[in-house]
Amino acid sequence: MSTHATSQRITIPQIRSTKGRGRLVSLTAYTTPMAKLMDEFVDIIIVGDSTGMVAYGMDSTLPVTLDMMINHGKAVTRGASRACVIIDMPFSTYQESPQQAYRNAAKVMAETGAQGLKLEGGIEMLETVGFLTSRGIPVMPHIGLMPQYANAMGGFKFQGRTPDEIERLVALSLELEKCNAFSLLIEGTCEEAARKITNSVKIPTIGIGASPECDGQVLVTEDALGLFSDYTPRFAKQYIDLSALIRESFARFEDDVRSGAFPTLEHCFDVANKS
Ligand code: KIV
Repeated sequence: MSTHATSQRITIPQIRSTKGRGRLVSLTAYTTPMAKLMDEFVDIIIVGDSTGMVAYGMDSTLPVTLDMMINHGKAVTRGASRACVIIDMPFSTYQESPQQAYRNAAKVMAETGAQGLKLEGGIEMLETVGFLTSRGIPVMPHIGLMPQYANAMGGFKFQGRTPDEIERLVALSLELEKCNAFSLLIEGTCEEAARKITNSVKIPTIGIGASPECDGQVLVTEDALGLFSDYTPRFAKQYIDLSALIRESFARFEDDVRSGAFPTLEHCFDVANKS
């Protein structure tokens, strides 16, 4: 979807209508400055619960809370005026029942001004997805490798290893489409699974570690910028090593302070220069 020409907010129906009409571009963001920097280049900004691991040093996404996602969601919608903003529902805030999911989802939507929500799940989530979408909450289900299910799956495991598993993913995708999901996020699957899902549904698929066979691609921004070194997935492409540049700047600052080279008069207030 080439949306560079528009400065208006990209809507959910516009995202949906891109199916078969070019690739969607998406990145994650948790803060206002990052959202501002990427806004003109991406169609969708995902405020991922990966923030727990990337920004807070948590071991998994499970401890991420609704309040954390609301605060990061607000920060991102303040920074992005053009991209469609989708916020992750964190673990334990939607799995109990469709009613619990609606209460929390409505709070996230009302407080952040985001355009839609993402939630992880298999067939157990169909009722919830239908419940939310029929009540005005756009949902992007996240299937395949689902980090919130890491304990049940025995780790962050690639999905769709057998023909049966692939068929199950395709069947799930078709059911989610019937529940009026506007798009699907597919994580950690093989090319065949991504291709079969993408060819089966009429809504756009966005892949991460799911091959080029999706309608769009997303990366965790810190992986793309070389800012998160705890764990770099094989599928992540690093576009710059910002960690090295940042460390070099910190080292120069340290040298300047220890040697007395910073601050100089230009960084100081005096009677003649009050600004
Ligand atoms: O939490 C996250 O950052 C995600 C990405 C795969 C978009 O779910």
